[in-house]
Amino acid sequence: MSIKIPFLSKQSKETDSLSADNIPDHVAIIMDGNGRWAQKRGLPRFAGHKEGVSTVNKIVKTAVGANVKVLTLYAFSTENWKRPKQEVDYILKLPKEFLHVYLPSLMENNVRIETIGDFHALPNNTQEAVNYAKEKTKNNDGLILNFALNYGSRYEILKAVKQIAMDLKEENLDIDHLDEDTFSKHLYTDGVSDPDLLIRTGGEYRLSNFMLWQMAYTEFWFTDKLWPEFTEETFCEALLAYQQRKRRYGGI
Ligand code: FPP
Repeated sequence: MSIKIPFLSKQSKETDSLSADNIPDHVAIIMDGNGRWAQKRGLPRFAGHKEGVSTVNKIVKTAVGANVKVLTLYAFSTENWKRPKQEVDYILKLPKEFLHVYLPSLMENNVRIETIGDFHALPNNTQEAVNYAKEKTKNNDGLILNFALNYGSRYEILKAVKQIAMDLKEENLDIDHLDEDTFSKHLYTDGVSDPDLLIRTGGEYRLSNFMLWQMAYTEFWFTDKLWPEFTEETFCEALLAYQQRKRRYGGI
């Protein structure tokens, strides 16, 4: 059965061919290319990040329409602190601005806000805005919109290892019971299924320390489009490519 995504301005060949019964449950996106998008237009880099926020809104709506269950967006990595302070400050204000404008529509669309990453290192007003949105949306049972904020996968894995070492030392955990499921429970993503599909925009082909454990069997899809020019149709193109893959998980 093909799927109709309600608010798309036009159905494209991609949306017409999409099947409703093989939509990835969890889509993760590395939103790359904001800076280049701005530079190409002679604008300061922050203008690209600003435009990137509009893309986030479009893609969230498309994900809701396509019945994606979890959308994880890599908004700020533990390595992004290396950027000039002005740019870091700007990016870290974006969650608050996004929620200020779009929270009502997220509520209407039954979206629940979650985050992964070291939340406590973020500026207080970012934490407050996100916590408010988490509380407000906590009973929504539609799309989980999961922002990776100050997220680094190696840090996340090390944190899990330290916690497990402590549990073993304090005899709260028996080493014979330490398996992949137990390990996963110590990650930020506890309770969320692993991504089925990773999309990276901006023509780069790397993971950049994003969900290394969780992506062991994720399907990857890359596009040269810069994040601000990524559209609903491009998202559907990625979903369609996913539907054409055969996932074997090491089997035959
Ligand atoms: C990478 O592009 C982008 C980022 C590090 C920031 C991503 C943030 C957004 C898209 C906005 C987030 C929105 C919300 C609502 C939290 P880049 O700057 O590295 O691009 P470049 O490779 O062209 O320089």
